[in-house]
Amino acid sequence: MRKLQNILVTGANGQLGFEIAKLSDTYPWLNLIFADRSTLDIANKKSIASIFNRYRFNTVINCAAYTAVDKAETDTEMAYAINGKAVSMLASFCEIQEANLFQISTDFVFDGTANEPYKEDAATNPLSVYGLSKLEGEKAALSYQRAYVFRTSWVYSTHGKNFVKTMLRLASEKPELRVVNDQFGSPTYAHDLAEALLKIATQTIHINEPSIYHYCNQGAITWFDFAKKILELKHSKTPIIPISTSAFPTPARRPSYSVLNTDKIKQHFNLIIPNWQSSLVQCLKNLNP
Ligand SMILES: NC(=O)c1ccc[n+]([C@@H]2O[C@H](COP(=O)([O-])OP(=O)(O)OC[C@H]3O[C@@H](n4cnc5c(N)ncnc54)[C@H](OP(=O)(O)O)[C@@H]3O)[C@@H](O)[C@H]2O)c1
Repeated sequence: MRKLQNILVTGANGQLGFEIAKLSDTYPWLNLIFADRSTLDIANKKSIASIFNRYRFNTVINCAAYTAVDKAETDTEMAYAINGKAVSMLASFCEIQEANLFQISTDFVFDGTANEPYKEDAATNPLSVYGLSKLEGEKAALSYQRAYVFRTSWVYSTHGKNFVKTMLRLASEKPELRVVNDQFGSPTYAHDLAEALLKIATQTIHINEPSIYHYCNQGAITWFDFAKKILELKHSKTPIIPISTSAFPTPARRPSYSVLNTDKIKQHFNLIIPNWQSSLVQCLKNLNP
């Protein structure tokens, strides 16, 4: 057995935190310490100090975040406190223990004007408060030497609130579904990202310089394509109609194209990333075996 590493997972009851927890038995060399919001409020310095006083961490995987994209437009202070300032506090505590920090970020740091998948060094220009607050969190993490930022997109899982579960519920309640067909991105099964993060944690004893990595399932589609496939796999007969973003106004603006280029993470960590269809099939099986 390799040496045990102590790894703190914040936001343990979110989609990603929950999927990491489900994998813990397959990584016995990692001593994973899970903290949900009731145990650790990352926006509260005393709460962070209390858990850092109890353990010595090798790595902190920050899965906690303010993820209500539309609500963030009005709940701005809270979004910045959790997605921005809290990351800076976590980084300071990591520095004291020389722990690695894995900060999870989003495709919404981009404005969507690109016409090819975004590389890690592409210019950011968030369109929403959520995107701006997450960018602030990225900057806070990257100002610490031992940090990796992992940007991901369109996350779903069997646990928590997400597009897949919403489409399945609406298909059983509504006579038809209308879904936007002019926003392109890559869905990501939280289970796959969780697995990638634990593989990377296993390979990464000390981060020597901060870096950004992109991770999403392979393939670029629209929300309409995604919904259509979900209904098809569940043999739903509910009709589905493509609409434009302008027909479905939301408080927060979203990028029309936020596909992430994942070459760097695949090469650096020798990862094989599943395509979006096979991961969707897997999630639906796990939702309803
Ligand atoms: N979901 C997506 O589509 C998506 C896309 C791109 C990137 N990401 C990023 O991926 C990461 C994981 O997202 P996810 O989908 O797993 O999000 P999620 O399901 O919303 O989970 C986030 C968790 O953070 C917790 N949390 C909120 N404020 C906290 C605080 N002050 N202290 C401690 N915990 C707190 C939430 O608890 P409560 O439920 O009690 O608030 C929730 O359990 C986040 O960094 C997110 O920004 C997500």
